[in-house]
Amino acid sequence: MVSHLRDKEEEESISDEQSLYLFNTWWRQRGWGRPVRIVDAEGVFLKEGSGRKILDFSSQLMCSNLGHKNRSVIEAIAAQVKSVPFMSPAFALEVRANAAKSLSEILPRGIDKLLFSTSGSEANEAALGIVRHFQRSRGAYKIISRYASYHGSTAGAISCTGDPRRLGAEPAGKIPGVVFAPDCYCYRCPFRLSYPECDVACAEYVRYLVENEGNVAGMIVEPIVGTNGVIVPVDEYLPRLKRIAEEFSLVFVADEVMAGWGRTGTWFSFEHWGVVPDIITTAKGSTGAYAPLGITAVRRDIAEEAENTGFTHGHTYEAHPISLAAVPAVISEFRRMDLLNHVRRLGGYMKRRLEELKEAHPSVGDVRGKGLFWALELTKDRSRRLPFNTRADKAKGLQLMADRIASEMYRWGVYQHAWINHLVIAPPLIITESEIDIGIEALDKALRISDQNMAA
Ligand SMILES: Cc1ncc(COP(=O)(O)O)c(C=O)c1O
Repeated sequence: MVSHLRDKEEEESISDEQSLYLFNTWWRQRGWGRPVRIVDAEGVFLKEGSGRKILDFSSQLMCSNLGHKNRSVIEAIAAQVKSVPFMSPAFALEVRANAAKSLSEILPRGIDKLLFSTSGSEANEAALGIVRHFQRSRGAYKIISRYASYHGSTAGAISCTGDPRRLGAEPAGKIPGVVFAPDCYCYRCPFRLSYPECDVACAEYVRYLVENEGNVAGMIVEPIVGTNGVIVPVDEYLPRLKRIAEEFSLVFVADEVMAGWGRTGTWFSFEHWGVVPDIITTAKGSTGAYAPLGITAVRRDIAEEAENTGFTHGHTYEAHPISLAAVPAVISEFRRMDLLNHVRRLGGYMKRRLEELKEAHPSVGDVRGKGLFWALELTKDRSRRLPFNTRADKAKGLQLMADRIASEMYRWGVYQHAWINHLVIAPPLIITESEIDIGIEALDKALRISDQNMAA
């Protein structure tokens, strides 16, 4: 058999076996088809089985912040695999102390009692448990979240998720006591108001919610909403939410799973507004995405509540040495490459290039973001801000315009994450201007599809 035919057959059989044996998560199972086989990845590029190079314009699931195959992080993980690859969390290991110490250098002072799990969902699940445990003497148990949010797939985290992924868990898989507040989403303000005349009604409504609900224990927010639109709040929003939390003795949880780890030009996104959360959860970029890790960082006095009452939570693979080995290496790679400054600089370039696309394409309704974290939201009628697709379309499994654009970009050699009516542009933070241009060029070509499908 000619060798390239054999290669193609092997390629297809690997893809077919994957779709036969693995669940295709968050997706209808039928129609997964043949996932593309990747054989290598380096820097900001993936390499397909065919040898074609693909620019990663979304850091996979907005997690490969250091790019692919960062040598220092890989070496740190490999050294740990060779020394102590696993030991029960009950034992002390140097790798655990080192990870905690290096995290304490980038976390706000005093938010440094840590639980290490293996995902963002688990980091949030633990945070919710801690909030409720801490507030139980007040009888408070309710958690405020928002509709434009994703907090994970475990019971508590999916119950706090506002996006349609929650619907699949209803009613049986949900925990009681989650209330949703309005989003600080100026492009589609839930109150149909405009900033600044609105006086940030979305934050003020939270006060009303807390007063009228009663028994509210805490709130969980993505300071910059990720998958659900890279929504950057107006400047007053987070400080005002924090003030409301303090006024009513609520625990304020910042979910930095996606927006953390330099994505917006600071270690964590809440830093842009000088707000200090009570609990910080994070995951994704913490290991460069080379090993699974969830981190729940808790304010000391909240954590001390457990000194007498116990801490009824834990996992077999909690504080896993292999994952923790990556953390100090990731932090020192950020410092060596001066990545936070790089992200701030390139963020300005990305903004300019995306705004040019908005000028050129009538189907671009909004571009927004910070650092290297951007959304491009589509519209089929700019003056009425009509979306091409809604959450209901997603739930029905219809073909979505944003997905069509992402597929077209892939044809042009760029991997792009799409969600309902927008694209999430979040390349590895090591990207250069000329690599950004490759992504923008593919986007420019793909947006012709939405331009050609505007409302009459
Ligand atoms: C903001 C946010 N929180 C939590 C999660 C859940 O993280 P994981 O998928 O690691 O469980 C995600 C995942 O995308 C996320 O974006």
